[in-house]
Amino acid sequence: MPKVVVVGSYIVDLMCRTPHIPKPGETVLGGSFQMGPGGKGGNQAVAAARLGSDVTMVTKVGKDVFGEEAIRNFQKEGIDISRVNCDEKEATGTALIAVDQHGENMIVVALGACGSLTEEDVEQARGEFADADIILVQLETSIEAVKKTIELANEFVKPVILNPAPYQEIGEDLLKGVTYITPNETEVFALTGIEVTNFSQAQKAAIKLTNKGVSTVIITLGRKGCFVYDGTDAGRMIAGYEVKAVDTTGAGDAFNGAFATFISQGFNLDEAARLSNSVAALSVTKIGTSVSMPYKEELDFLKDN
Ligand code: RIB
Ligand code: NA
Repeated sequence: MPKVVVVGSYIVDLMCRTPHIPKPGETVLGGSFQMGPGGKGGNQAVAAARLGSDVTMVTKVGKDVFGEEAIRNFQKEGIDISRVNCDEKEATGTALIAVDQHGENMIVVALGACGSLTEEDVEQARGEFADADIILVQLETSIEAVKKTIELANEFVKPVILNPAPYQEIGEDLLKGVTYITPNETEVFALTGIEVTNFSQAQKAAIKLTNKGVSTVIITLGRKGCFVYDGTDAGRMIAGYEVKAVDTTGAGDAFNGAFATFISQGFNLDEAARLSNSVAALSVTKIGTSVSMPYKEELDFLKDN
């Protein structure tokens, strides 16, 4: 059982189906409403746990009903909550999500408590870092927490995955300590200024990131799959799986939680990426974020594809 420490956000997702994403000033009569556990950190933690990882979550929630629900949900998923702190002042993070009929989404996040995760909050998890096989962090929290996470991972010589989502300005220095970086097209553009629309641009962007000190680059490309590059060769595309998309929200999180699990189980880069593509594909066939993360038993039917 891989031991995974996830440092990041817990957010309550308030999701409405909509015929189309509203324009500024427009009111749209939407479809069904669903509330559920989310946040990139929380979703990635759930994805990893459902695939068989032993997960510790490092986050902060508010002293409110959403915060209590967060704890209950993590416990239900078998996730260690000993490093989930409670903020006295801030509310639990919330996201307003609209999902259209093609499964595409629009999200506004109010980070609340998980935005004020401090260096000390991360430091409290030192013991968990020491025991971990891998560390997983996103940018949906304070940069101070992200920085401390990478430092602690480096101190214990543990691989660390940085999912740079949602993009925030980070010091270039920070990238030196990153083992795997997993941007999507938008994030890779923000990080490198390169618009990745073909293989050679993916390659260029990846080289730019490895030159900044990242060991391995994985650019996630939605239904197309992902591009992987570890500096030993030209890099390659790992094809995605064709599925009927119902809700793509959280697909990147499914990928990251899965990748942390599979790479720690000893799969090589390509195989871990391929399996993670299948997990992301399965997650988009279901409505919701954390609740749509697949269990390892569900992977069988994709294995031979
Ligand atoms: O990646 C999807 C997540 O982003 C949602 O669960 C929402 O909480 C936002 O943070
Ligand atoms: Na989903």
